[in-house]
Amino acid sequence: MRSVQFSSYGGPEVLEVVETPEPHAGDGEIRVAVRASSLPPGEMMIRSGRRRQQVPTTFPHRTGHDAAGVVDEVGPGVEGVQVGDEVFGLAESAGFGANSDFVRLTTWALKPPAWNWAEATAAAGSSETSTRVLDRLGVGPGCTLLINGASGSVGTVAVQLARARGAKVIGTAGPANQDYVRSLGAAPTLYGDGLAGRIREIAPVGVDAVLDCAGGALPDLIAITGDPARVVTIADTSAPRHGVHLSHGAFPAQAAALGVPADPPARHGLTAAADLAAHGHMRVRIAAAFPLEDVVAAATFMEETELTGKVILFH
Ligand SMILES: NC(=O)c1ccc[n+]([C@@H]2O[C@H](COP(=O)([O-])OP(=O)(O)OC[C@H]3O[C@@H](n4cnc5c(N)ncnc54)[C@H](OP(=O)(O)O)[C@@H]3O)[C@@H](O)[C@H]2O)c1
Repeated sequence: MRSVQFSSYGGPEVLEVVETPEPHAGDGEIRVAVRASSLPPGEMMIRSGRRRQQVPTTFPHRTGHDAAGVVDEVGPGVEGVQVGDEVFGLAESAGFGANSDFVRLTTWALKPPAWNWAEATAAAGSSETSTRVLDRLGVGPGCTLLINGASGSVGTVAVQLARARGAKVIGTAGPANQDYVRSLGAAPTLYGDGLAGRIREIAPVGVDAVLDCAGGALPDLIAITGDPARVVTIADTSAPRHGVHLSHGAFPAQAAALGVPADPPARHGLTAAADLAAHGHMRVRIAAAFPLEDVVAAATFMEETELTGKVILFH
């Protein structure tokens, strides 16, 4: 089968499509014949070498966390899914390698017919990540939640999941994405200078919790809630210095480098997102799609454009 990997740090050109042995489903896993997977921005940062101090890697590094496709093996102990089912999900974080023609998934949900393959794979990581943080913050009816970076891949899904829980949501975005954030069901505002004042105008009674999908603004976000425990970031590695929780699902070597243990995966987030999609209430954000063979072009596109959303590989 084909897999995407890199064997040295460098630009997009170090990515290569190579032949690798097919994996097989182990205990609690399914194997999927992949139709689409996304190119993870975090792994492209690792590839560049810019994060080599914080995020050590070994070569070759196979890329990809999420996939959508057709189940073709069901491992021991797995119930509720059959060969031939269409699913979307996540590879075990220590294994990665979802930019491959076959992948072992440890977390999955049935793909709703409303989503194509690209939308399904794009939803997998964003719905798990969002749910992990919304659960930790106790987001539910009556809660006012601020999402910093609400127009991105994670923010888009987080807004819709939080709204479905009955929360009021305020979302920051750039000028071009204000209407987009409103269309998701959040009150939009710009990120950057003066954020606290704009939030006070939208929510005079205050904000209960913050999901930070952007990084770089933790002091402001803490001031907005008045309590670092009410802020969770997925993007700011300075979080421990501010008393803020950095939520991630990285494997142990990376977690040790970050200095923060991984949170348990919120597998139920995939089902929650799929249920909303089945009723027409869950959109995902896709920037572009490329054939797997064109992974270098896909990674170059990711670096050279400012489009927000997932870059998808078709298999
Ligand atoms: N820890 C985890 O488990 C986990 C999981 C997934 C992703 N992540 C990380 O989370 C981050 C977001 O991922 P994503 O896939 O949603 O990225 P994305 O699709 O590129 O979205 C980025 C978002 O940040 C906004 N933004 C840009 N500059 C900003 C600024 N100065 N202040 C506030 N917001 C700003 C963008 O708004 P505009 O486009 O409107 O300008 C957009 O809403 C990335 O750093 C990613 O590596 C972490």
